[in-house]
Amino acid sequence: MELAEAQGAVLAVLRATRAADLPRLLHWMRTSNDFDDFMLSNNDVMLRSIAEDLRKCLPIEGMLNSEHLAIQRSLFQMHQHPEPMIHVDAFLYDDDFVDSLCEEGKMSRNYCVACGSHKTAPLEFISHSFSLMELKFLYQHVLPDLTGKALVDVGSRLGAVLFAGCLYSSAFQLYGVEMNADFCHLQEMMITKYQFSDRVKVIHADICTQALLLQNADVVVMNNVFEYFLGSLEQARAWEFISQNVRKKGLLLVTVPSLEESLSTLQMDIQLSQWVEEVQLDYDVYMDKDIDREALQQIHLYKIV
Ligand SMILES: C[S@@+](CC[C@H](N)C(=O)[O-])C[C@H]1O[C@@H](n2cnc3c(N)ncnc32)[C@H](O)[C@@H]1O
Repeated sequence: MELAEAQGAVLAVLRATRAADLPRLLHWMRTSNDFDDFMLSNNDVMLRSIAEDLRKCLPIEGMLNSEHLAIQRSLFQMHQHPEPMIHVDAFLYDDDFVDSLCEEGKMSRNYCVACGSHKTAPLEFISHSFSLMELKFLYQHVLPDLTGKALVDVGSRLGAVLFAGCLYSSAFQLYGVEMNADFCHLQEMMITKYQFSDRVKVIHADICTQALLLQNADVVVMNNVFEYFLGSLEQARAWEFISQNVRKKGLLLVTVPSLEESLSTLQMDIQLSQWVEEVQLDYDVYMDKDIDREALQQIHLYKIV
């Protein structure tokens, strides 16, 4: 049913209601929890609409010319001889969308390992944003009630963590820090269009200049921030800064992948047990659904000790 038709149907029900029952019906419509499910799915619709707007502004791999070089350099450092990879932003393109792109021949999940033959191998997919499913897991199952709290997303890119935080949490303030000016511009466009400006702020900066913001935050989110974007020395410098400024006792730190994994290849002397305590997460909350459990298991939660 289209909007105008639905509005007409609601009005028809109101007009047909007995005059004596109308005040109670209107009171129920204003105060009932019966509409919560509709409101929740409305948030999903809004996030999907933001993703649709952003898709129109970006090439299919969801990356900008300004960052190709840095990513290729750091991938080469990490793997020396990297397997072919494909960059697909999971916030912009969910699995069904990727399937339809593959069907249209615009994308492939496999690459040919011996040219001319039918021998193929699966491509490794890299996403530079959380998917809708991961965002809902983050706000509905990983983090506690955020009423009155300030969250900082380090490397906020398309703003997925910030916009989802606005829709799925009661966080008082959501800050994104992003070093790429073009991505800051895209986030600003969405903040204006979807009227998030009272709760969401984007700062165009290197996180290593934002000591006060990190010191005052209640929640810090770090989704693969440095791995693909900085060389090893710069990563070590950035982690040193994070470990010195994310210090407030009780602060919640969300990372992908685990801190152990991120720090394992960098020669650093951060004593994790003196800095954080890992909080065990229940990755089976969506057991009955067709869910990417492997992706959820990359999400780790720590409490600063
Ligand atoms: C993998 S994306 C994370 C996207 C987003 N937080 C999410 O979860 O959907 C990492 C982002 O961090 C940014 N970044 C990397 N190093 C940074 C730094 N030192 N300061 C600020 N942003 C940084 C990159 O430009 C990139 O856009």
